[in-house]
Amino acid sequence: MLLTGSAGFIGSHVAEALKEAGHEVAGLDVRMDGDVRDPAAVDRLLPGSDAVVHQAAKVGLGVDVADLPDYASINVYGMAVVLAAMARHGVGRLVLASSMVIYGEGAYECPDHGQVRPGPREPADLTRGIFEPRCPTCRSALSPATIGEDAPADPRNAYATTKLAQEHLAANWAREAGGIAVALRYHNVYGPRMPKDTPYSGVAAIFRSALEAGRPPRVFEDGGQRRDFIHVRDVAQANVAALGGGRPGTLAAYNIASGRPHTVGEMAAALAAERGGPEPVVTGEYRLGDVRHIVASPGKAAAELGFRARVGFIEGMKEFATAPLG
Ligand code: UD1
Repeated sequence: MLLTGSAGFIGSHVAEALKEAGHEVAGLDVRMDGDVRDPAAVDRLLPGSDAVVHQAAKVGLGVDVADLPDYASINVYGMAVVLAAMARHGVGRLVLASSMVIYGEGAYECPDHGQVRPGPREPADLTRGIFEPRCPTCRSALSPATIGEDAPADPRNAYATTKLAQEHLAANWAREAGGIAVALRYHNVYGPRMPKDTPYSGVAAIFRSALEAGRPPRVFEDGGQRRDFIHVRDVAQANVAALGGGRPGTLAAYNIASGRPHTVGEMAAALAAERGGPEPVVTGEYRLGDVRHIVASPGKAAAELGFRARVGFIEGMKEFATAPLG
């Protein structure tokens, strides 16, 4: 099969897991042998493949709108080139690396209005240290709930928008070509070879890089924001499992999560403890684009793909505290 992004953080682990599972893997990566936007590069590697596992992407939140053309080009146009090549070569199965960022803010319960999906938080609340989103109807405090795959999408940055566009293109391809498409909505992936601290890095890599430099992790808001940190080897196994899932003519989407969310403050504390300090600092800073909590049920992936995360938070963070970064 063809694995795009095979030299990247997640892609390199997916390559190992696919090979261990007995698959023959041809890798395509811009760092080695070609760009997903180049039909000739894809054509060179695709013949003989029965599936494409598409991990190549521009990731992260980016710096500013100057990044938009790259997100659109690599993620949307690149996906379109891959799908057209799959049709040319009669390749009928796609596994797509998607993301939980397509949901925007997570799901919440209002004591009076049941499950609600609040919009972006107000700057006036954030500057006063009110970090929990409010009920869109009655403005009262909400408690977080798990989000399901059928929740409406609400992409709030270019990365999220282009990941959602990839899912839509994959669904279009599946319908027209009779292909099987499976989108894996990764939660916060961490583990060995995670890229070092850059404007595109996730919080786990930023904290890890700070600790390595002897600086305290800077925890934004009050540290109570919840995420589901999932180990990269579990994500790799989800890709292997996804090759056995899906139905012809449709795209099936799955949350790829551990099902055991933790706060950003807990994550900082776990890494700092493992490295012997310095202790995290809770700064009260906020980023307007950040969502407060995003946690999901891993139930659908368990039921339909037989995928369950194996690496626990404590064990995974212990390894990550000293693992080599990419
Ligand atoms: C991250 C990824 C996103 C990916 C998603 C799921 C980035 C920038 N975001 O989204 O692309 O799709 O996981 O895998 O890679 N924080 C701090 N201190 C810092 C930096 C961040 O406390 O120095 C906090 C933020 O305020 C936020 C949380 O950590 O509350 C998570 O931030 P981050 O990892 O950047 O973004 P996610 O929204 O989780």
